[in-house]
Amino acid sequence: MPSIIDVRHVYKAFGGLKVINDCSIQVEKGSITGLIGPNGAGKSTLFNIIAGALPLDSGQVLLDGEDITNRPANELFHKGLLRTFQIAHEFSQMTALENLMMVPPKQAGESLFSAWLKPGLVNQQETAVRQKALEVIDFIGLHHVRNELAGNLSGGQKKLLELGRTMMTDARVVLLDEIAAGVNRTLLGDLVENIERLNREMGYTFLVIEHDMEMIARLCDPVIVLAQGSVMVEGTIEEIQNNPQVIEAYFGSTAA
Ligand SMILES: Nc1ncnc2c1ncn2[C@@H]1O[C@H](COP(=O)(O)OP(=O)(O)OP(=O)(O)O)[C@@H](O)[C@H]1O
Ligand SMILES: [Mg+2]
Repeated sequence: MPSIIDVRHVYKAFGGLKVINDCSIQVEKGSITGLIGPNGAGKSTLFNIIAGALPLDSGQVLLDGEDITNRPANELFHKGLLRTFQIAHEFSQMTALENLMMVPPKQAGESLFSAWLKPGLVNQQETAVRQKALEVIDFIGLHHVRNELAGNLSGGQKKLLELGRTMMTDARVVLLDEIAAGVNRTLLGDLVENIERLNREMGYTFLVIEHDMEMIARLCDPVIVLAQGSVMVEGTIEEIQNNPQVIEAYFGSTAA
């Protein structure tokens, strides 16, 4: 299977601190790949680099074979590479439904132009966007709170909304940064199910950062372990959990 994401020998330092250090990872098309590692390992930094939110110092990132190194986030978004944030960033004064409708359409410039030229067309587009948002909100199980202000949703519902935002455009690869953190067990079940459905039914590839090992075990194959900015080991969850190096990295020498 070809890689949809191919990170090649990436380096990134903040000041003198080397955070990403000769890191190479491949994400297979159609997979749900896990990315785990201790706090400060560089997981979110790597996401920022892949998604165009942070320039790398050296190395290369490919999307489906195309060099996307240091391309801006909005360009990557339009290529179908999307990410969620470790901290959910909803528009709190808008409803859940409106939050979904805020996701920029594929040709933002073009629709602005047609807004000015052909107002009727824009109404049509807005209706289409609303229709899509309603479908998405059904899919993620938030229909009953669609008209609530997003700021009033629970932590778990905000995470579902984050996932929903990725469905408003034709995503190919979605990077999930600790989407389960702070989510209660019931909503977590919904979240996991939705991720599986998006993978199965809509062909999404996922790269998932998560500290919740149960969730990683249920969703992800393979799992990549990042430590101090580079890949320590990659394998199935069983291989990872039985790897002495991984046990050492997580629990220190006493557990090894
Ligand atoms: N903008 C920044 N400026 C300086 N240092 C940074 C910056 N962003 C991250 N770091 C540092 O880089 C290292 C890796 O951070 P990162 O957030 O990527 O880790 P992480 O693996 O996502 O950790 P966690 O599991 O806690 O979310 C940390 O030491 C962090 O303090
Ligand atoms: Mg992080």
